[in-house]
Amino acid sequence: MAGLGWFDWILGLLRVTFDTITQRVKAVHLPRQLPLIPLSHMTCIITGATSGIGLETARHLAKSGAHVVLAVRNVKAAKNLLEEWQSGQEDGSSPLNVEVMEVDLLSLDSVRKFGEAWEARKIPLNVLINNAGIFCMNGAQKLSKDGLEQHMQVNHLAAALLTILLLPSLLRGSPSRVVVVNSMMHHLGFVDPEDLQGGKRRYNCTSGYSDSKLAQILFCHMLQKRLPIEAGVDIIVVNPGEVKTNVARDLPKIIQMGYHSLFILFTPTEGARSVLFCAADKKVQEYARALRGLGYPLVPYFGSDCKPASVAHQAHDMEKAQLVWQQTLKLVDLPLDCIELVLSENDPVEVIENFKVIDSYPEDENEGALDFLMNDEDDAVTEIF
Ligand SMILES: NC(=O)c1ccc[n+]([C@@H]2O[C@H](COP(=O)([O-])OP(=O)(O)OC[C@H]3O[C@@H](n4cnc5c(N)ncnc54)[C@H](OP(=O)(O)O)[C@@H]3O)[C@@H](O)[C@H]2O)c1
Repeated sequence: MAGLGWFDWILGLLRVTFDTITQRVKAVHLPRQLPLIPLSHMTCIITGATSGIGLETARHLAKSGAHVVLAVRNVKAAKNLLEEWQSGQEDGSSPLNVEVMEVDLLSLDSVRKFGEAWEARKIPLNVLINNAGIFCMNGAQKLSKDGLEQHMQVNHLAAALLTILLLPSLLRGSPSRVVVVNSMMHHLGFVDPEDLQGGKRRYNCTSGYSDSKLAQILFCHMLQKRLPIEAGVDIIVVNPGEVKTNVARDLPKIIQMGYHSLFILFTPTEGARSVLFCAADKKVQEYARALRGLGYPLVPYFGSDCKPASVAHQAHDMEKAQLVWQQTLKLVDLPLDCIELVLSENDPVEVIENFKVIDSYPEDENEGALDFLMNDEDDAVTEIF
């Protein structure tokens, strides 16, 4: 199958460039750091919390009182971070409720072990943040331990598997949400559902990354469609903006220095704002439900300014979304009716009745705290309608 045509690729590149150049202006209404809001009722798992956007998001959630699980491949680095955060706590304040669990997204077996270990605890999960990602900017195509193209595996397939394995916990923690950290780069993506594992098309790192981010959005449309509203699990996709992180770690040092000196790029703290907003603000959930109520088929997508945005036109193809759904499940070795199976074993109605339905963002304590974020209503969505 051919790739993205030149015209569409150039249009995509212009969208990405424009978004990068204007991101500071568009986010001018946001403080550099979102205010801390009480989240002690929330249990949250975040992947890739040892660096960049994930680190800042995890720290903010932890300081807000949430029970945070750092799902990382480098356990030692995460434990060191945790020690540093605990020792930075003010005298008299309670210790952060953070723990570290190992998961290497380059191994589907490791994801399954993580899922089993977490599920065995039977703890309700309120938020899963699929943040970990790679953009290997040099070198030839590399395959994971499972023989799958590494970007596709880390950025999409392993995250998809993790989400489905944690679905029983998310149902227990309902109303709950899955926040998927995506990228504007999906505008440059092209997905051949028959070649998610890589190998048929000529490889380059940009397409490896962009394709995985596009596949992730297409998969999320179908995941959301299969979860009934009453299950109370919302899927939210977010673009954190272009952020100075370790994502460019493969580039020569001199280019990295140039990259880190660019003022237009967000700091990790700024990049974490939209992720935190999607994880903790109740308006995001209301927005997601409103879209579903209107029969809108696409998953909610937020920009780095914490406002709803539109996905690339390639991400509107629902037939392809269905094929990506099927192929993803095949590659991660899950049955096509895996969602229905989980739902039948964890009746959403019962789940909601048995557990105290908490607002992820209690009104009385936080009234108005983040109101400024969604005041300016969503042109992007009305544009699509
Ligand atoms: N930075 C940007 O401009 C930008 C723009 C749009 C979207 N994003 C997205 O934002 C997310 C976070 O990226 P970032 O910019 O914060 O990059 P980063 O600083 O490189 O952080 C990536 C995190 O993912 C983890 N990770 C990588 N491979 C893993 C694996 N196999 N198993 C488990 N964890 C793994 C890394 O762990 P280690 O520390 O062990 O490597 C690290 O904690 C990614 O999904 C990225 O695509 C970033």
